[in-house]
Amino acid sequence: MILAFANLKGGVGKTTSAVSIAAALARSELRVLLVDLDSQANAAYSVGVPSGSSNGALVEVLVDGRPIDEVLWETPIAGLDVVSGGLQLSTRQLDIMRRGYPTTLLERALAPLRHEYDFIIVDCPAGLGLLALIGLQAATAFVVPTTAHHLGLESLDLFFRGLEGLDKELRPDVRLLGILLTMVDHRTKLTEEVCTALRRTYGRAVFRTEIPINVRLAEAPESGRGIFGFQSWSRGASAYSRLGAEMLRRARRLGLSSSMGGFGFARRACTAANG
Ligand SMILES: Nc1ncnc2c1ncn2[C@@H]1O[C@H](COP(=O)(O)OP(=O)(O)OP(=O)(O)O)[C@@H](O)[C@H]1O
Ligand SMILES: [Mg+2]
Repeated sequence: MILAFANLKGGVGKTTSAVSIAAALARSELRVLLVDLDSQANAAYSVGVPSGSSNGALVEVLVDGRPIDEVLWETPIAGLDVVSGGLQLSTRQLDIMRRGYPTTLLERALAPLRHEYDFIIVDCPAGLGLLALIGLQAATAFVVPTTAHHLGLESLDLFFRGLEGLDKELRPDVRLLGILLTMVDHRTKLTEEVCTALRRTYGRAVFRTEIPINVRLAEAPESGRGIFGFQSWSRGASAYSRLGAEMLRRARRLGLSSSMGGFGFARRACTAANG
């Protein structure tokens, strides 16, 4: 399964979730590859790739056609490999566009690795630009992390509209695995309001598991060992562990039936809820 973490909005926990879920799955003895599609390379840094390292850069795969197995980086987390993002993913976007069928580049690059890993997790940059499309096109399913703020809800709606507008660019069988509430702080009235509104609007598309605000998750990237290597007993680690289990259950269901539908599922749920 190739799972992309994406949202129109920045700073909503896409990278933290992609990295922590990749680590949670690897802890369950699954073979996991983390693909960092962001020029900030935060995902790769969070699992031990030194900042500014040119080793293992995805841009060489996307622009120069280098085989992806030549740029894999073994992380300190057992069972987890990473392909690093980097600044050149942004500065060389025109070169990426000049290649034939640019949105399918990652999908094609990953094809030889599909049987090497149980899960491939793709951390997309914010927005629906070329890099995010490359990630979504490669994915069999995607997760949309969002914060419990009104602007987060607004962006979510726009994101699904954007996807519908782009449906000819994306593979028709891509599935929404779920919407994930991150940085949740139930001490505030705003959180209660937004979580309730989100669950009313999107129903079971929203994961039951919520990720609480937890400073350990913000500290973990510096350790390069993921949240489980940093503080496996933290609230953040335990939430991502539970999310991993919930995701696996959903993924199994998804494999058995297509009842969850594509990304149109969330829009339809929204339309139904709003009459
Ligand atoms: N549950 C959490 N509790 C506390 N801090 C968090 C949590 N999740 C993420 N953060 C912090 O919030 C910030 C944004 O998170 P992150 O980088 O994962 O978001 P993003 O959606 O990937 O951002 P971007 O759009 O820039 O790629 C980071 O500093 C991260 O450490
Ligand atoms: Mg990010």
